[in-house]
Amino acid sequence: MLKGKKFILGISGGIAAYKCAHLTRLLVKEGAEVQVLMTKMAKEFITPLTMATLSKRPILVEFYNPENGDWNSHVDTGLWADAMIVAPATANTMGKMANGIADNLLITTYLSAKCPVFVAPTMDLDMYTHPSTTRNMETLQSYGNILIEPGSGELASGLVGKGRMAEPEEIVEKLKAYFKKKASKKLAGKKVLVTAGPTHEKIDPVRFIGNYSSGKMGFAIAEELACRGAEVVLVTGPSSLSCNHPNIDRINVVSAADMYKACEKVFAGCEIAVMSAAVADYTPAVKADQKMKRKSETLTIELKSTVDIAKALGEKKKENQFLVGFALETNDAEQNALKKLNSKNLDLIVLNSLQDSGAGFNVDTNKITIINKQNNKKDFPLKSKVEVANDIVDEIESLME
Ligand code: PMT
Repeated sequence: MLKGKKFILGISGGIAAYKCAHLTRLLVKEGAEVQVLMTKMAKEFITPLTMATLSKRPILVEFYNPENGDWNSHVDTGLWADAMIVAPATANTMGKMANGIADNLLITTYLSAKCPVFVAPTMDLDMYTHPSTTRNMETLQSYGNILIEPGSGELASGLVGKGRMAEPEEIVEKLKAYFKKKASKKLAGKKVLVTAGPTHEKIDPVRFIGNYSSGKMGFAIAEELACRGAEVVLVTGPSSLSCNHPNIDRINVVSAADMYKACEKVFAGCEIAVMSAAVADYTPAVKADQKMKRKSETLTIELKSTVDIAKALGEKKKENQFLVGFALETNDAEQNALKKLNSKNLDLIVLNSLQDSGAGFNVDTNKITIINKQNNKKDFPLKSKVEVANDIVDEIESLME
């Protein structure tokens, strides 16, 4: 699967740099070409001679060769590769990648690369759990970069916890799985609608009825589909997330009615729709034009039901269209999910329950069960939403065959 593939291996300065020798050997053994880029700090952890010998290529560190002035073109290197692997990715390097601080060749190459980028973080436990590291990793994922999660265990500091760079074998497996999926081309060019995030139902100019959805699940699904070549229209309610994948066309909406309007238009031209938004079931019957004043001890707001978008699309669905819904449950989860699968004419339903810790709204993880029309169900363990998105898209691909 990796034969003939060209990789940039960007090594930054962490103790796990020693694992890059084995990683390079494994890649070369698979028949891949590896161009190693090192930061100055990385050279303190593993020698350029070791990496040059194993990769069978000169190592690139500086913007130019100080001996003869030869320019090391980061643009050419970035365009040459089928994938870039940043391993180990230190907190410093991830911070620079997330913020475009282009002060070394690894970062300028990263910024020029048009290929998928795999990032294998490594650092001490406290650094790993710092909010700035979390934010930088989320930012990189929002750019479409693929995070290879570190493992847990004893760290170089003596602390025990998460922060050990993934083993070279695991990185190679991830690369193989990625290129295998890409080669399958089942989703290439397919038009897909994805809904994400919450809806806000206006009460008056300063208040709304909303929910806790962040959009993380839906954005991860949109990214995964786009990475597999689908042309995605992402209809999202208010969300602070960004997505920059060229295959994703984002439409921002606010209310359930806006979301319905957008989805109705897009759905006719789609082969697949994934409804992961948390859409309000009710909206105020009357929206006040002026801020409502405090008048009495109690206040009653009359609500009317919104359009059930998934159900409406299920009624319009043609034979060549595949409709995936979500079920967010707090009780009788499976029973309720099955009811939704049938009543909305879905082909697949993804059940997540708020009874599972780490699942549902506004967290980076989810725990799902996928149920198809034949009532076959697959339970998945708690995983990052990026991995969950991968499982959901795998299931869609296999059922569309
Ligand atoms: O955004 P995150 O913070 O990452 O959280 C992810 C999530 C919890 C929002 C997501 O995983 C999820 O469960 N989304 C569906 C939430 C929901 O509204 O579930 P439901 O069981 O109420 O709705 C069932 C299905 O009908 C869903 O596909 C929903 O999008 C759809 N629906 C519901 C109401 C409505 N008026 N129109 C709809 O299309």
